[in-house]
Amino acid sequence: MRKNPLHTKLCDSLGIEYPIIAFTHCKDVAAAVINAGGFAVIGQTQHTPDEIAADIKWLRERIGSKPFGVDLVFPASVPEVGSIDDLLAKIPKPQREFAEDIKRRHQIPPPKKTPEIFQLGWVTLETPRKQLEVVLDEKVPVLASGLGNPAFILEAAHARGMQVWGLVGKPRQAKRELDAGVDAIIAQGTDAAGHTGNIGTFSIVPQVAAMAGDTPVIAAGGVTTGRHLAAAITLGAAGVWTGTVWLASRESDVSMTIKEKILAATAEDTSFSACVSGFTMRTLKSQWHKEWESPNAPPPAPAPYQLLLFGEVKQSAMDWNLESFMTEAAGQGVGFVTEMKPARQIVFDMVEEAIAVFEEITG
Ligand SMILES: Cc1cc2nc3c(=O)[nH]c(=O)nc-3n(C[C@H](O)[C@H](O)[C@H](O)COP(=O)(O)O)c2cc1C
Repeated sequence: MRKNPLHTKLCDSLGIEYPIIAFTHCKDVAAAVINAGGFAVIGQTQHTPDEIAADIKWLRERIGSKPFGVDLVFPASVPEVGSIDDLLAKIPKPQREFAEDIKRRHQIPPPKKTPEIFQLGWVTLETPRKQLEVVLDEKVPVLASGLGNPAFILEAAHARGMQVWGLVGKPRQAKRELDAGVDAIIAQGTDAAGHTGNIGTFSIVPQVAAMAGDTPVIAAGGVTTGRHLAAAITLGAAGVWTGTVWLASRESDVSMTIKEKILAATAEDTSFSACVSGFTMRTLKSQWHKEWESPNAPPPAPAPYQLLLFGEVKQSAMDWNLESFMTEAAGQGVGFVTEMKPARQIVFDMVEEAIAVFEEITG
């Protein structure tokens, strides 16, 4: 082969060795991936501005001057401001009553702790804007918007030498963000964990690549092996954005119950439903999902109200160890995650397999 296919324009623009991007909430995973030659973006939607500043400091102490990213979400359809009590009072009656009925029938006690989502998160527009201020102050090399068009951030970010990436699930969203001038676009297929659309990775990546010109396209959704990495590059991507593959890594801080569920799950054990947040989301199936699929269930409430209903049950499930109600965002690639490996090993295995695949093809 004349050129290393894994050395893409994204590697040049970030100064990284491998075009593998880890999305993770766990700082230890991020540090391990970056120090192994990849790139990591830490999910900070659930953190206060002070916590975000502390996490950035922690990471910088471990990776030195290597670049990293922070992910926030900017959903357009949630209220501008509002106290948690105001929002809870606005949960539509049919969904509130159905959730009460689920709790009664399954004898789910109230949570011991305040549900995480009641304290922070993206239930109003005010929170992400405050989180954004820290990210700009810290001149984080990459700000990724996991939800919502980041066009309004571009000027301030570029003035600070930062890149802004947008994650999309539809070609028309990609066009809007590319026209606005994002520095990279993450084209995510329905296979992915978390909030995602209904277009498959194989369909969306080449479509977005065809419209992106010189802007790097990063493929997301189901990328868990080196063969997926090689396929993403072949589809026109300059890198891969991955979430599920890190969940059961040694460093990952998700609970052991969730790690075991991840290791045991196959692609058929994930659900694409709005029952968790009000937006379509791919997560591990649980009793909560089953209930909202039953014929007498109302449709899920719009975001952020469904997230408030689920957030309370999620907290109860954690506080009382109610395994059947425990779930986590997970993509269809979960079936390839069968071993608990150190994050750096996951990077190296992916790279090695991708190189072997390219050699196999080119002879
Ligand atoms: C546990 C978990 C939590 C996630 N939370 C967020 C989030 O807060 N913000 C976000 O933009 N994406 C989130 N995602 C989605 C990832 O950013 C990524 O788009 C997705 O995992 C890619 O698909 P894959 O899981 O098939 O690799 C999450 C993914 C996982 C696995």
